[in-house]
Amino acid sequence: MMRTSLAVVLAAGEGKRMKSNLPKVMHPIGGLSMIGHVLKALQTAKVDRIAVVVGPGDDKVAKAVAAHARTATMHVQAERRGTADAVRAARDALTKKADDVLVIFGDTPFVSAAAISSLREKLATGASVVVGGMRPDNPHGYGRLIMQGDQLTAIREERDASAAERKIGFVNGGLMGLAGETALSILDAIENKNDQKEFYLTDAAEIAHRRGLKVAAIEIPADDVIGINDRAQLAGAERMFQMKRRVEAMKEGATLIAPDTVFFAHDTTLGQDVVIEPNVVFGPGVTVADNVTIRAFSHIEGASISPGAIIGPFARLRPGAKIGENAHIGNFVEIKAADVEEGAKINHLAYIGDARVGAKSNIGAGAITCNYSGVSKYKTDIGRNAFIGSNSALVAPVRIGDGAYVASGSVITEDVPSDALAFGRARQVNKLGRAADKRKKE
Ligand code: UD1
Ligand code: MG
Repeated sequence: MMRTSLAVVLAAGEGKRMKSNLPKVMHPIGGLSMIGHVLKALQTAKVDRIAVVVGPGDDKVAKAVAAHARTATMHVQAERRGTADAVRAARDALTKKADDVLVIFGDTPFVSAAAISSLREKLATGASVVVGGMRPDNPHGYGRLIMQGDQLTAIREERDASAAERKIGFVNGGLMGLAGETALSILDAIENKNDQKEFYLTDAAEIAHRRGLKVAAIEIPADDVIGINDRAQLAGAERMFQMKRRVEAMKEGATLIAPDTVFFAHDTTLGQDVVIEPNVVFGPGVTVADNVTIRAFSHIEGASISPGAIIGPFARLRPGAKIGENAHIGNFVEIKAADVEEGAKINHLAYIGDARVGAKSNIGAGAITCNYSGVSKYKTDIGRNAFIGSNSALVAPVRIGDGAYVASGSVITEDVPSDALAFGRARQVNKLGRAADKRKKE
């Protein structure tokens, strides 16, 4: 029979050590908030219910949770009185039956679905408390796991530990599984008799042990449960994320010429035979199809790139950029909320925003869409096989028909019919000999 599960995610801590106005769990790694990473892992692990504990007035966290896990319930911890008090704040969720209760910290962004599943497997063997332990290079700051054979008898926080206990290298990764049957009664028995006068979740181990229940610790890779408490650790986590993602990208069939200089987002997807040159940055929401080349120094977010397209060098694709098959986006070109259809070329110094560029059209150097009136945004629609001469300004809303030709330097404020040639500039006049006269006079 399938066991039911509830995950309680603790995200009410102030994160004082971050020195930030942004709640700690909202700081991003690979363009996704720490809490977003945790929720993603819980969804991958197919946990039935998710309860998130937030601090009073943490609207940002609540919003982020709603965006990532629509069915998650939100619980407010009125005062930050420790991790056990935080779990108890989710009492409404805990009183509904669940075989497995999993407590996860919002500041351990790399918690894996595999680690969550291992906790559950151990609970299924009859343990009433299971702790996700690890052996980090430096155990400083973590709670030490005090074992008697297979039985975990207590967890001692660093500040409450004796010198001998501090030597223990097996520590609390911050992941805990509780059998639903006994969870609340154990949690309610936790007191705050410690150095910080806080209600420590970690006391659950000792309480269950004293009641003669089975208390176990499993070992999970230290990299999966690193806790982020300050900005140096945040940067370290970003580095770990990027290193892992680069290796994955190469395994998936992308060539990274200088992997250390390419930065991915949590959701970047790459096809096969994609070539990524040095110094490319991906923001969230990017899909790259097969055989795409992204040349050096490009910045790409919220964009989809179809097979065979060439992007950059020095290109900027902003949210809503859709680049069609074999299209070329060249140097110092910015594209935003625009459909660039198959085979179109925008090779130099252009801005295309809120627009469609039809298949096989050519946008000259320095051409721009004037999409913003100062109040509203308007659309520019360019048909197929059109030619927009260099340094033209297309003042939206405006349509350029299929096969139309806009002379360079034009300011286009009216629609151009298909196959028409449009001039939107002053006519040139040549005054013969006038330059020589001027020189003589001066
Ligand atoms: C905690 C563990 C420690 C473990 C370490 C792993 C306890 C007492 N200690 O220490 O054994 O080795 O994590 O990273 O559990 N939070 C609340 N409300 C509170 C206090 C905390 O929601 O009142 C949340 C925080 O937002 C955070 C998590 O609980 O996500 C852990 O709190 P934190 O203060 O970071 O605990 P650590 O000192 O890291
Ligand atoms: Mg912590």
